[in-house]
Amino acid sequence: MNLYLEKFNNENEANHEFFNELRAYAEVNNVPIIKRDSLVLIQSLLNIINAKTMLEIGTAIGYSALSFVCSKEDLVIDTIERNEEMYNEALNNIKKLNKENSINIIFQDALEVDNTILKKYDVIFIDAAKAQYQKFFDKYAPLLNENGIILTDNIIFHGCVEEQEHLSKNVRSMVKKIDNYNHYLSTLENYTTYYIDSGDGLAITMRKK
Ligand SMILES: C[S@@+](CC[C@H](N)C(=O)[O-])C[C@H]1O[C@@H](n2cnc3c(N)ncnc32)[C@H](O)[C@@H]1O
Repeated sequence: MNLYLEKFNNENEANHEFFNELRAYAEVNNVPIIKRDSLVLIQSLLNIINAKTMLEIGTAIGYSALSFVCSKEDLVIDTIERNEEMYNEALNNIKKLNKENSINIIFQDALEVDNTILKKYDVIFIDAAKAQYQKFFDKYAPLLNENGIILTDNIIFHGCVEEQEHLSKNVRSMVKKIDNYNHYLSTLENYTTYYIDSGDGLAITMRKK
């Protein structure tokens, strides 16, 4: 993020010191967390559409979920995480900010969660295994409220989706899946998607009216 603009966002960020510590922890421990400009963009969207409920797929250490509820106090998030170490770290962080009533973590593989235990959501945020994006979308899109939005992070994967020539076979295969997902979103008859060049790329998908 532009350093000049970041200064203003830092001044406005509730619990700034705490979130700085989480960002530092994520960097040292190689935990992938959302880029700051996409985070701020989503925080704005949550407030613009007055979101009350969110489903997040991919909690990691709880950084994004905590940032979202701190930017909108009446937002309630269900977030799904399959990695036990991440799950425990997220629980600790949620406790530190006393956000147990705002964030509910489901410790399970998102593809195995029983949808009927979930509710309807104003926002669905897809930020887990990239190779499974389309499966997450198909499984959870029916839980979207009429005017809700589905956000997908990392849709350019460090710019690799545009420049595929010099990548290793594994990375190329994953990047191909993200590319297929982006094309998939663009062909959906009942949805419109906007592709935003923010952070690692963010797709904003909504139902056609
Ligand atoms: C990019 S990180 C999430 C970052 C987090 N949203 C943030 O910005 O602070 C992705 C997380 O998704 C989890 N994950 C990947 N595939 C998953 C799945 N199928 N079900 C549940 N969690 C999954 C990983 O364990 C990892 O912690």
